[in-house]
Amino acid sequence: MRHLLSTHDLDRADIEGLIELARGFAEVQTRDVRKVPALRGKTVVMAFFEDSTRTRTSFDLAAKRLSADVINFSASASSVKKGESIRDTIETLSAMEIDAIVVRHRSSGVPHQITQWTDASVINAGDGWHAHPTQALLDSYTLVERFGSLDGKHIALCGDINHSRVARSNVDAFTKLGATVTLVAPHTLLPRNLDGWPVRVESKLDNVVGDVDVAYMLRIQQERLTDSPFPTLREYRSNYGLTVERAARMRPDAVIMHPGPMNRGVEIDPEVAGQENSLVLQQVANGIPVRMAVLFSTLGPGRFDDVAKLAGSVGVAK
Ligand code: CP
Repeated sequence: MRHLLSTHDLDRADIEGLIELARGFAEVQTRDVRKVPALRGKTVVMAFFEDSTRTRTSFDLAAKRLSADVINFSASASSVKKGESIRDTIETLSAMEIDAIVVRHRSSGVPHQITQWTDASVINAGDGWHAHPTQALLDSYTLVERFGSLDGKHIALCGDINHSRVARSNVDAFTKLGATVTLVAPHTLLPRNLDGWPVRVESKLDNVVGDVDVAYMLRIQQERLTDSPFPTLREYRSNYGLTVERAARMRPDAVIMHPGPMNRGVEIDPEVAGQENSLVLQQVANGIPVRMAVLFSTLGPGRFDDVAKLAGSVGVAK
């Protein structure tokens, strides 16, 4: 795997291979020295043209725990502020003999465009509404660790589907792993055309909350809303929020997820985010081994389709 631009580049075996590799790297996180020399001598640039907390820090930690050198490039503190183009920025960074660029941008398609301007591997850390493949991989990993398999599981993705790259990538990854996905949203927050989406659609969270294995709540992305898709946040919460009352109706073995950052009190009540069956912080923690697996698969000495060999080559347990 040279680049990771979208989950659409991965089939089920690829996703399962990455999950298995991540499991090996998770074991590294439990050691006194949480570091392996797998990417010693490689240089990874974090090129974030849009804000991030979780993705940026976990990619940074992942690269460092693989012993890569890391350059943190922030558009807001760079010559981008003086008007330098993305192309000139990428060509400038690439002239310094880098091996990978982890890129986040507010516009869909930028990571793909960047592959035309660099010989480095390009990893998509979120582009516009399009894709967030490593979020989907860490969410898949989190659920496989919890349930053993996603085959036959029912996952509700609830909220602002239209503006969500997380929803697009998770629908693809979850269904490839055998889950059934129901989108729950007002029609104003659904994509206009759902042709080709392997999903069911439900307009009321109350209709599915008692049935699902996973309630995956999405952030209301106020920075991407150009009109008013619902009357008030209070009204949105009353119909689509995972309130304490709704969470109490979930099955005893069901879990709650959110990619963060959360609007507490809007799409999820604060008490619900912190309750025992909430995997929100587990998702964050799992971002490190999953991103180690992605970096190693793009930059390491082999491909992830020989996971046993890869795990052995970096001294991690299979
Ligand atoms: N889930 C996610 O992408 O979070 P950040 O925007 O903080 O990276």
